[in-house]
Amino acid sequence: MKRNIAYIPGDGIGPEIVREAKKVLDKVCSVYGHEFHYEELLLGGASIDAHGVPLTEETIKKAKAADAVLMGSIGGDAKTSPWYQLEPSKRPEAGLLGIRKALNLFANLRPAYLYDELRKACPLKEEVIGDGFDMIIVRELTGGLYFGERKTVEENGVRKAVDTLSYNEEEIRRIAIKAFEIAGKRRKKVTSVDKANVLDSSRLWRKVVEEVAKNYPDITLEHMLVDNCAMQLVHNPGQFDVILTENMFGDILSDEASMVTGSIGMLSSASLNETSFGLYEPSHGSAPDIAGKDVANPIATILSAAMMLRFSLDLDKEADAVEAAVAQVLEEGYRTPDIYSEGMKKTGTAQMGSLIAERIQ
Ligand code: NAD
Ligand code: IPM
Ligand code: MN
Repeated sequence: MKRNIAYIPGDGIGPEIVREAKKVLDKVCSVYGHEFHYEELLLGGASIDAHGVPLTEETIKKAKAADAVLMGSIGGDAKTSPWYQLEPSKRPEAGLLGIRKALNLFANLRPAYLYDELRKACPLKEEVIGDGFDMIIVRELTGGLYFGERKTVEENGVRKAVDTLSYNEEEIRRIAIKAFEIAGKRRKKVTSVDKANVLDSSRLWRKVVEEVAKNYPDITLEHMLVDNCAMQLVHNPGQFDVILTENMFGDILSDEASMVTGSIGMLSSASLNETSFGLYEPSHGSAPDIAGKDVANPIATILSAAMMLRFSLDLDKEADAVEAAVAQVLEEGYRTPDIYSEGMKKTGTAQMGSLIAERIQ
């Protein structure tokens, strides 16, 4: 099967980790007889260096034309990188938000699963981990605070900044439908997370989610306030199946959920529109502090590539094979430094990618 993949290395550890995901996909192609054609595109800091802007029309056009987009991560160190001398709309992050909006990627799926082998890398106590956990965060990705009006002004000599959090019912409905559809194939529970005790946008969120829930009578819906959810994630993570939430809450809660899986280097991510098209990237950032050292964990990106096989390329068997290879390497005791515990085999970025690729069958 021939497929076209837009390939965005990005900044920092981005090129290192996405290279390992490609290595694994190359092995998938050779074992299963597929042909993937990659077109490399620029985004974020790399695009600023080449074109002066973090996102070009060309990147949007070529990403749209592909069957899926595979990405590293973008951004630099805000203190030292010249990219942060630019105005906010020209910085790397604006490129990422721009491509999400341009491709209408409103549904961001971030699965947080604790591999049994990583119980020692999880910072929670054994009794809190219990039987482990397996949840997926369904984060709204093209609305809310990230895309509301913002401005910085000076009023009577006092500096003031404004960000706006707004959602309309259609934006809420379509992400809620995604969450219920996903829950139907899992343990049939949706926890909708909001701040309805304070925010109007959350009160509308709750109403619309309840309307959607009427079409899914076999799924249990519960509402949870976001502060409580942040606490419950480290108190009793096993209670969650599908967490449905708005953009900013989902950003914060997914980093928290990642840590209880052992490391942010384990948390994959898929950003989808209404079709099977998607952008696949790890949930973490470009980690400038460890870039170029061959220590970054490539597993989040490799698991994102597995989601790409499953959701955009309709290759379930191949996705299963990648996930099985990741599990096998962990069972054999290989660990990048972020998930290392005593007695395990310390492994670099490139070796981890090779070990996983070798186990694809
Ligand atoms: P970060 O996720 O890059 O790093 C946070 C911490 O986690 C660092 O200590 C880092 O070393 C570690 N870490 C991250 N990924 C790792 C991996 N695969 N293996 C091992 N350790 C890993 O977050 P940050 O430092 O707040 O942000 C750095 C830059 O990344 C910023 O410019 C930010 O805007 C950007 N960012 C981009 C994305 C994206 O492209 N989707 C996501 C988040 C942050
Ligand atoms: C993420 C990142 C981005 C976000 C940043 C880099 C704009 O943190 O993908 O989680 O906040 O969505
Ligand atoms: Mn984030």
